[in-house]
Amino acid sequence: MSNPFPAIDWDRLTAAARAAREKAYAPYSNFKVGAALLTREGEVFVGCNVENRSFGLCVCAERTAVGNAVSAGFREYRALVVATQASPPAPPCGMCRETLQEFAPDLVLRLVNENGEVRERQLADLFPEPFAGP
Ligand code: THU
Repeated sequence: MSNPFPAIDWDRLTAAARAAREKAYAPYSNFKVGAALLTREGEVFVGCNVENRSFGLCVCAERTAVGNAVSAGFREYRALVVATQASPPAPPCGMCRETLQEFAPDLVLRLVNENGEVRERQLADLFPEPFAGP
């Protein structure tokens, strides 16, 4: 029987996040972000930030990745890599933490940058008290 929880292939996820970051549309901030989300089933979905000249419309890489995964029918996630140029590597913003928590309260994250810096986090630590719903 196949292991339902195989080890997380962080190298694969990191490569996917870095490749997605290359696709970022960030002409206003020049801060490119790539995200790669691993589903429970082992699929990988990526996202990049998509900015707009109306700045409030900018969408983060993490929520683009969630949207891509949900659109393909995948709603349970194990791991996320976020790739930025920040040092130390940047964690997801508050809005993305709330979005991720909806689908993956036990999510584990790796935050990486182009200098090879890596930080590991758990969503439960980054976002301990989500909105409980109406
Ligand atoms: N951004 C993300 O993609 N993810 C985050 O968690 C925080 C910020 C994007 C939004 C904007 O395009 C740029 O980074 C600068 O804030």
